[in-house]
Amino acid sequence: MNSTLIEKLKQRRTQYALGRNLSLDKEAITSLIKEAIRHTPSSFNAQTSRAVILFGKQSEQFWELTKQELKKIVPAEAFANTAAKLDGFAAGVGTVLFYEDQSVVKGLQEQFALYADNFPIWSEQGSGMAQFAVWLALTEAGVGASLQHYNPVTDEATRQEWNVPASWKLRAQMPFGSHEGGFGEKAFMDDAQRFIIKG
Ligand SMILES: Cc1cc2nc3c(=O)[nH]c(=O)nc-3n(C[C@H](O)[C@H](O)[C@H](O)COP(=O)(O)O)c2cc1C
Repeated sequence: MNSTLIEKLKQRRTQYALGRNLSLDKEAITSLIKEAIRHTPSSFNAQTSRAVILFGKQSEQFWELTKQELKKIVPAEAFANTAAKLDGFAAGVGTVLFYEDQSVVKGLQEQFALYADNFPIWSEQGSGMAQFAVWLALTEAGVGASLQHYNPVTDEATRQEWNVPASWKLRAQMPFGSHEGGFGEKAFMDDAQRFIIKG
């Protein structure tokens, strides 16, 4: 069966070579990201996912802050590689910072004690879904992206810079921009080891 959705799923790849040659403007990209997150399911429809969407100089500033934080902990001889990687993310059009609002998670735990242990897990799963929805929406729009995890080293500096609420926990970063290179090789495991189908 042909499925345009499956074709999009296949098109979504990790793009590290980002540039600024996009025809989409900031408003269009913002709208895509907001809609993708708005329509992502969440446990109890609690909508715990939050996002900070940074463009241009603001995105560059995020990666600069991350660089400064990493410089404190990455061995000097390894830092040049790290810095070059971050410069690559900063070379794009923008970065989405994905958060989960812990005050909502805590409220749910108090309200529904029976599921208390599950809410943090469901929040993480919801965040992953939101990240994937945004990644797919960007893919369809011809925008390249990757998924990064510089939390928690960058959390505090970022919180201060953009006045992010204390209850928002940073979970992932998605730098995006134009596709300026190919994708890495990708291997797939055997279906036989992955799926059990009966009946
Ligand atoms: C939960 C999760 C965490 C990931 N973390 C990182 C990361 O920190 N840095 C990175 O470069 N890629 C990260 N990736 C991207 C994966 O490495 C990538 O999706 C995988 O190798 C398959 O390649 P593809 O995205 O091109 O299909 C992450 C992906 C997932 C789903």
